[in-house]
Amino acid sequence: MLNALDIPIVQAPMLGATTESIAIAVSRTGALGSFAAAGSTPEKLKQGVAAIRAATSRPFAVNLFVLPPADPPAETVRAAMDLLAPWRERHGLPPQSIPNQWAEPFEPQFAAILDCAPPAASFTFGILTREQAEALRARGIFLVGTATTVAEARAWADIGADAICAQGFEAGGHRGTFLKSVPESSIGTLALTRTIVAAVNLPVIAAGGISDGAGIAAALMLGARAAQVGTAYLLCDESTISPPWRRAIETAPDDPTRLTRAISGRHARGIDNEFMAAMRPLEDEIAPYPVQNALTQELRAAAAKAGSPDVLSLWAGQAVKLARAGAAGEITRALWAEARETMRNQTKVWLGPGG
Ligand SMILES: Cc1cc2nc3c(=O)[nH]c(=O)nc-3n(C[C@H](O)[C@H](O)[C@H](O)COP(=O)(O)O)c2cc1C
Repeated sequence: MLNALDIPIVQAPMLGATTESIAIAVSRTGALGSFAAAGSTPEKLKQGVAAIRAATSRPFAVNLFVLPPADPPAETVRAAMDLLAPWRERHGLPPQSIPNQWAEPFEPQFAAILDCAPPAASFTFGILTREQAEALRARGIFLVGTATTVAEARAWADIGADAICAQGFEAGGHRGTFLKSVPESSIGTLALTRTIVAAVNLPVIAAGGISDGAGIAAALMLGARAAQVGTAYLLCDESTISPPWRRAIETAPDDPTRLTRAISGRHARGIDNEFMAAMRPLEDEIAPYPVQNALTQELRAAAAKAGSPDVLSLWAGQAVKLARAGAAGEITRALWAEARETMRNQTKVWLGPGG
């Protein structure tokens, strides 16, 4: 599947920033588009897959979060709601009520994937069982597991994954860490890609901080079969980010991103804002994902509507300054042309005209 791509770029799944339209645009170029379906009901997931299939015959991937159902203790929820109360007040929201569900349940989503059998499926936040991997294989679905350590890559290989997404610390948004703590799993894309390539006999997709042609060329030189690009697409025409998020990216100062648990309860990388800064001393008291994520949803929607970045999830990776505007298909073609140009030029510089 990865060898068959005309362009060895995977457009990263980005929930909250994209819909299936970006997957269509990118897959049409011969790269691999991704449909971030973790927030979709099984019905919506199937509709998204049908829409992509109707628009292109090229391969694409559907992405889900592997999560057990959340059942938080009442006092955890109460404490989280208390922490958020002043922020809700600031945005003119009434006292919080408990959401009907904390997140879309994973099992029915997984069943929907089996049902509609997209060419590829990628998973993050956890790991599938061997039986689930076999069920995907039986339907001809190419399985990509996200790893942030070598041990996680080995675990995916053990259950029968077809490829590993090696997701470095530089990556925007949430990462897939599922075995050890975040500090123990904070490995940069360069070291992670090389050590996973060396340890696991599967194709590797490098992700994290890859936002231009030189980054893509570098990932391929590291032995990755493809480069996964997320943040670089956040300003594209198909991106669905809110105006304040867009502005935060366009006007980002140098080195603007930080990790935070404040917004979702799970570490994620984004452009620093007032809420992240205020919650920093309280990071350990924040309710776990997906509880905090569900509790901040209404607040974030109100802030986005008001045009304020103060409490938004301004997810972006460390190379955010390289994000570019334009149609996603054009960006993909330009990234690949630049990568090829980089490889040609570097070969000339280091190996001489004869190579
Ligand atoms: C806004 C945003 C949303 C994301 N949502 C998802 C997601 O739904 N599923 C997933 O596996 N990864 C998600 N990620 C991580 C990306 O798939 C990818 O690994 C990452 O963007 C690569 O690093 P980069 O942002 O430096 O390019 C998200 C990243 C961003 C920036």
